[in-house]
Amino acid sequence: MGKRPSVVAHRGSSESSPEHTLAAYRRAIEVGADGLECDVRLTADGHLVCVHDRRIERTSNGRGVLSTMSLQELEAFDWGSWKNPWSDLDEDAELPDPDMSTVLTLDKLLATVRDAGRPVELAIETKHPTRYAGLVERRLIETLARYGWSQPKLGTESPVRVMSFSWLSLRRMRTMAPGLRTVLLMDRVPLRFRDGSLPTGVSYAGPSLEIVTAHPEYVDRAHKHGHQVHVWTVNADADVRHCREIGVDAIISDRPEAVMRILGEE
Ligand code: G3P
Ligand code: CA
Repeated sequence: MGKRPSVVAHRGSSESSPEHTLAAYRRAIEVGADGLECDVRLTADGHLVCVHDRRIERTSNGRGVLSTMSLQELEAFDWGSWKNPWSDLDEDAELPDPDMSTVLTLDKLLATVRDAGRPVELAIETKHPTRYAGLVERRLIETLARYGWSQPKLGTESPVRVMSFSWLSLRRMRTMAPGLRTVLLMDRVPLRFRDGSLPTGVSYAGPSLEIVTAHPEYVDRAHKHGHQVHVWTVNADADVRHCREIGVDAIISDRPEAVMRILGEE
């Protein structure tokens, strides 16, 4: 068998901690995940925050559409109790850990990666970037630039790769930051790319687990075209083993602890 796939914590260690919180990412780093995955959205006042959904009800105690709210408004909500119901605790119970209940900015996540004490990869997904005519990508590059990660110096590589279901978003990224690696996420592979090729300039393939389960041969095809294959979202033990057997390069999972254990068994 080839090289062990890298293990990427999807929304952090999101099975055990509230997704996209600092606590979820710190936990993923502690358990030895090779990388972290996050979704980014733009607030009304131009900050990138790590949130998956367009609306905030599922993962906070607020209501409404995220892009209509400022960062300060989002910071007033509790982003952890939906998963860990502290509200059931008595009055003397300790308040929830702020790392587990505060909306996370991309800036803070980048600082966490920088200060991790070991190399950690970060896969950033731009959510619905077509709505904002390039603003998400511009803000993303400005934020990465503060860490020297938008245009890595010669001989160095940014720990960041940018993922999207939107080719348009990846194309914009490539134009604005040609040195950054990109991943095209796919829940179906368009006919012209079934040979394992990708649109010009895209670095890696990001097929769903369903694609590589139905078509395991896709992995070899992509490799023949020189593209790594990063598969999402792989949680069941049997699926982790399947991904290992067919030679995928990265496994994106809500339970990086379990994936590390399974891969370590072989
Ligand atoms: O890693 C890719 C995966 O996160 C895409 O789906 O809905 O979880 O963002 P979603
Ligand atoms: Ca995602």
